[in-house]
Amino acid sequence: MTITTDSLVGQLATENPLATRVFARHGIDYCCGGGRPLAEVCAEKGLDTGTIVQEIEKELNAPGDPAERWDEAPLDSLIDHILATYHVPLWEELSRLEMMARKVNQVHGSKDPEMLGGIEKVFTALKNELDQHMLKEEQILFPMIKGGQGAMAGPPVSVMNHEHESAGEMLRRLRELTNNYEVPEGACNTWRALWHGLEALENDLHQHIHLENNILFPRALAS
Ligand SMILES: [Fe+2]
Ligand SMILES: [Fe+2]
Repeated sequence: MTITTDSLVGQLATENPLATRVFARHGIDYCCGGGRPLAEVCAEKGLDTGTIVQEIEKELNAPGDPAERWDEAPLDSLIDHILATYHVPLWEELSRLEMMARKVNQVHGSKDPEMLGGIEKVFTALKNELDQHMLKEEQILFPMIKGGQGAMAGPPVSVMNHEHESAGEMLRRLRELTNNYEVPEGACNTWRALWHGLEALENDLHQHIHLENNILFPRALAS
């Protein structure tokens, strides 16, 4: 695929999975906001589009195995990949991070109540939403798609898309509250680990939501 400044961000991520590394590096939203042209997103973020295109090309030409093209794989395999790579670890990670956010707020909350109290509150809301969201995907939507009824999945898909946007909003809020995950001086090990875990969670959720929003759901609806 030729990468142009008019290319849509989500489509670039679909056809060139390694481009997501560049998007993550520069905070470019490729999952819920994937329907926008690259040039428009770069202009908004004050990034030079030509430089971003060069960075993407560099990632694509780097040595190593090419990333899996999930837009070309069978839907069953894509669902199994989403479950194994994102859902299974996420169930555990959400509980682990919730405990850490609570602990850091309990022990250090008085140092910065707005930041640490805010993180515990936003994270708990995110966890509660994602727990319900994954249950709906695992028990209703994914079995529907696997059963060949993806074309009739319009209503549940629009609910999932809406919930993805809400999760994206909470991730943005967490990034804001943590000053872009910059570890404060003197932070204890749990505090550091929380920052690290939240940033990794954000990256995984962006990949996860991209695979559902930009690849799985449109393909299922068109099947
Ligand atoms: Fe999911
Ligand atoms: Fe989802």
